Amino acid sequence: MDTVTLVCGTRPELIKLAPLVRLFGPRAIVVYTGQHYDRTMYDLIRRDVAEPGGFHEFALGGGRRGTQLGRAVRAVDDVLAAHPTSAVVVQGDTTSALAGALAANANEVPLVHVEAGLRSFDRAMPEEHNRVTIDHLADLCCAPTPLNRANLLAERVSEHRVEVTGNTVVEALVAAMPTAAAESAVLSAHGLHRDGYAVATVHRPENVDDPATLETVLGELAGLPLPVVLPLHPRTADRVARFGLGALLRRLHVLEPQGYPAFLALVSGAAVVVSDSGGIQEEVSVLKRPVVVVRRSTERPEIEGTFGTLVRPGPRVGVEVCRWLDDVAGHRARLAAIPSPYGTGSPSARIAAALERLVAVPALVG
Ligand code: UD1
Repeated sequence: MDTVTLVCGTRPELIKLAPLVRLFGPRAIVVYTGQHYDRTMYDLIRRDVAEPGGFHEFALGGGRRGTQLGRAVRAVDDVLAAHPTSAVVVQGDTTSALAGALAANANEVPLVHVEAGLRSFDRAMPEEHNRVTIDHLADLCCAPTPLNRANLLAERVSEHRVEVTGNTVVEALVAAMPTAAAESAVLSAHGLHRDGYAVATVHRPENVDDPATLETVLGELAGLPLPVVLPLHPRTADRVARFGLGALLRRLHVLEPQGYPAFLALVSGAAVVVSDSGGIQEEVSVLKRPVVVVRRSTERPEIEGTFGTLVRPGPRVGVEVCRWLDDVAGHRARLAAIPSPYGTGSPSARIAAALERLVAVPALVG
């Protein structure tokens, strides 16, 4: 096998593909579409990703989703035409991942989907349509968990195309985790004490695009009985300004988006996490912290009832957070004994091995 082309365009994709970039080294060609075009957020993550053999960067962020998708397919198609490759790897469920999958298919290049088989069964989520489409185009579906594999088989994806690998987030996290001293320094810099605060992230359209919902979510956070640290996503900052909700932010400890190691330090020291993020639901299971997931559905039911509770935006957010606060040390000890459903060791090595088999014997794929 010569090169492998990894297509991505957002912060979480860069984080979760970083272990594969590290593994493939000079054989990795990264195509970054620029779907997340906030420069600070991008620079913070990019500096932690190992140097690939090639890096093609585009600035296709903003604008309508269809336009973004069309432009991204065109960009990846141009790279594939100029730089023939053994396989295309996409991760997760973003517009960029779908663009990479379509371009690989159009160029008849084997397609590998990392984080395959997640399903929220919520057809109102654009990501759900992306996941399903990518999985059905992929020659190799790398399912993080047995449940993800079962979802694929239920859709009649051939079992020869599915490999349970774990999720690369577990090793991305271990590689980026700061030392105990560095973790304490992050907390001190913000005047925080271990187990004495909550961390919140909120940026999904279902929570921030409607003024009443965003006001409810921020109101719940502002009413919690402990300091709440909120690294503010650019999309949320924009909606807060547009809807005139700035007063609610004054009752929160608002930060710029954090670099990955600093953010992990904040989560690791928190009494509880409140989030609508996909990746954070996985990370808490490695860091052994509880999360209240503010969403109407989740594609990660594996953590429900152990590390996480799913709640819709509304008064139950505060109720659930307080439930986790009733015995912080007890919950910490209990969660520490529960293994992460997303695996251990090196999921990227398992993905790379399956990829090598795919490229060596493409006829196996039915
Ligand atoms: C979305 C998808 C997810 C998919 C991912 C990549 C959903 C709900 N989410 O990611 O399924 O895996 O795209 O395709 O469909 N972080 C920082 N600094 C901060 C805040 C967060 O480094 O200040 C890190 C978190 O530790 C985490 C990642 O950013 O690793 C989360 O990014 P986010 O933008 O929340 O995207 P997801 O919802 O995880």
